[in-house]
Parts: sequence; structure tokens; C-alpha cells
Amino acid sequence: MDNKQNSKIIKAIKVIKEENSNNRSLKIIDTPIDESLSPWEILIKIKAVGLNHRDLHAIQNFSDFIIGSDASGIVKKVGKCVSNFKVNDKVIINPVTNWNYPASPPKEPNIIGGPSNGVFSEYVKINQKHVFLKPCHLSWEEAATLPLAGLTSYRNLFTKGRIEKNQMILITGISGGVSLLMAQMAKQLNCKVIGTSRNDSQDLEYVDKIVNTNSNFKKTIGDSNIDLILDNLGGALFSDYIEVIKPNGKIISFGNSMEEKINLSTRDLFYKQVNILGSSVGSKKEFIDMLSFVKNNNITPFVEYIFEFDKFLDAINLLKSKNYKGNIAIVL
Ligand SMILES: NC(=O)c1ccc[n+]([C@@H]2O[C@H](COP(=O)([O-])OP(=O)(O)OC[C@H]3O[C@@H](n4cnc5c(N)ncnc54)[C@H](OP(=O)(O)O)[C@@H]3O)[C@@H](O)[C@H]2O)c1
Repeated sequence: MDNKQNSKIIKAIKVIKEENSNNRSLKIIDTPIDESLSPWEILIKIKAVGLNHRDLHAIQNFSDFIIGSDASGIVKKVGKCVSNFKVNDKVIINPVTNWNYPASPPKEPNIIGGPSNGVFSEYVKINQKHVFLKPCHLSWEEAATLPLAGLTSYRNLFTKGRIEKNQMILITGISGGVSLLMAQMAKQLNCKVIGTSRNDSQDLEYVDKIVNTNSNFKKTIGDSNIDLILDNLGGALFSDYIEVIKPNGKIISFGNSMEEKINLSTRDLFYKQVNILGSSVGSKKEFIDMLSFVKNNNITPFVEYIFEFDKFLDAINLLKSKNYKGNIAIVL
């Protein structure tokens, strides 16, 4: 069969750089997909996609690519050497393509969805090594928001944080998708979860106590009570963390939603033996372990908003606004 016979026109969301300017716009375009597969490839009909802050970063920095890293879907066709999947399997995609084992991170993880083509598209062709069965207890939308947030949460808590049963955990920016997932995971180990939020009057499942992000942590949380801090905010709060962390405690830095730079006194670090560790997404091995943990403990990402495909700009604007809890999904 020639390529023309195997080619089909599909809809996808593409980032397009405007002529003679640095501006980028997002458009649903018709694009051809060649349905002939290499031996280890799978063709997936996408059912839902999950949004991440990474998408905004990708839109700003790259152009002429299909956006999106997180998705769930149904296997429609498999290459002749594919052994792990069959037609009609329900699957999710691990978007991190160059990292196999936790202890050997690449200099920078390759994540699909900028600069390479991503998953906000009716169909995706991908090597079977990046595809996994969808946990049955999750809806398409919940499963679509799991990959990056689940992987980041799992590495933060288990690989880097070495979380133990009954510990006191502080999670910052608690309304975020990664933060809420970490709270839910930590609860399976019977940990006490304290979250920080700009809205400390809200009630969140899996969170024992919410303290205001702008409060005096030593007063609201107590002196040297916390075993593990998981921080997505960065910035000025870091010196407050040192006051509430136990001697030899760990602070995992995985985001900078508030500020990139931190300001710390070395004296505070060395007397208290504080361990500050950076963390980001994770390896294929951690993705597999995360999926087992999610299945065995019925972990379910919180999806507050679901948009139709043609309303994707509303979804992107909501993502920019940060005016939501948990995750945002788009259905196809
Ligand atoms: N390293 C990685 O591999 C990786 C992977 C995924 C995400 N991330 C990063 O992790 C962070 C969290 O991502 P996310 O998608 O869960 O959510 P996010 O929207 O960046 O923020 C999570 C929460 O942080 C609080 N927050 C946000 N901006 C703030 C500000 N300027 N000042 C004070 N609080 C603020 C808000 O909670 P309240 O409304 O409750 O205050 C918000 O819901 C981001 O920085 C993201 O880039 C990193």
C-alpha cells in the first residue's frame, strides 16, 4: 500500500508562530497521519488529554508542533512486533521518553509536546515502550491527567523523599494537581498532611490542616515538627521551611510557581542538617511503580474542569489563570 492510501486527515491543536512576530497562536488544524506503523508502533485514538503548566512553557518557547504531554486513549492498530497490546486496549502514555531508571536521570528529560509533537490530537502514533494500560478505576479524564503529575508525585515522595509511615508532611500550594495527588498518596502511609494555601478556609480531602501561605509557619505549624516538605513554590518561603523542618529532614523542590530564586542562610542548613533535593518528573521504572501504587490504593487525580475539544482555548486560559483546583482535562 502506498502512503496516500494509508494516510488519514485528523484534527490536532497546533502552536503556530505568527509571521513577522514572536507571537504564537493555538489552532485546531487538519493534519495528515500516516496510519502505516513501524514494527513497534501503536496507533491510539485519544479519548482525553490533561493540561500541565509545561504546556504554557512549551507554547512560549517552541512553535509548529502539536501541544500536550498527557493523554488516555484506545489502541486502534498495532505494529507487527507489538506484543504488549492489542486493539481496543485502554491505555495511557508516559510522556518522558529518555529516562529508564531512577538513579540515572538524563541532563534534561525529553517530554513529548514541545518541541516534539504531543498528544492533543485525535490519533497518536507512538512506540509501545511509552504506552501502559489505563488503571481500570479511572475515567478517561482522570487517567489523562495522571502521567506527569503521578510520576512527579511518586518520585518526590518515594524516590527522593523516602517517605515513611506516620510522618508529618508539609505540601505547599496544596490546591495544585501534583500537591493534591501527593496528599492522597501520603495518606496511604498514614502520614499527617499539612498543606499551604492562599485560601486556608477551604476543606480538602486527604489534607489534615491548611495553613495560609503568608502565615508565620513557625507559629501555625510549630518549631521543627515536619519530616518532609514538598515544595512547588520556591522563593522567599524557603527560610521559613528551615524553621519547621525537623533536624535531618528533607525538602524536595520540584517547582517555582511563586519565585525561582531562593535565599537561605548556610548556617541554618548545616546546623539543622537539612537535606534540600531537586526533583522532576521521573523514569520509566518509577512510572511503572507509580501505576501499581495508584491501582493498589485506588488513587484518583482530582479533575475539577472538563472541556470539549473545540473549547480548548477556554481550558488554556483557565490553566493560565491558576483559578482551579487539581487538574483540567479536555475530552475528544
Ligand atoms: N519538576 C517537575 O517535573 C514538575 C512536574 C509537574 C509540575 N511541576 C511544577 O510543579 C508546580 C505545581 O504544578 P501544579 O500544576 O500542581 O500547579 P500550580 O498551578 O503551579 O500551583 C499549584 C498551587 O500553588 C499555589 N500557587 C500557585 N502560584 C502561586 C503564587 N504565585 N503564590 C502562592 N501560591 C501559588 C496555588 O495553590 P493555592 O491556591 O492553594 O494557594 C496553586 O493551586 C509548578 O511549578 C509546575 O511547573 C514540576
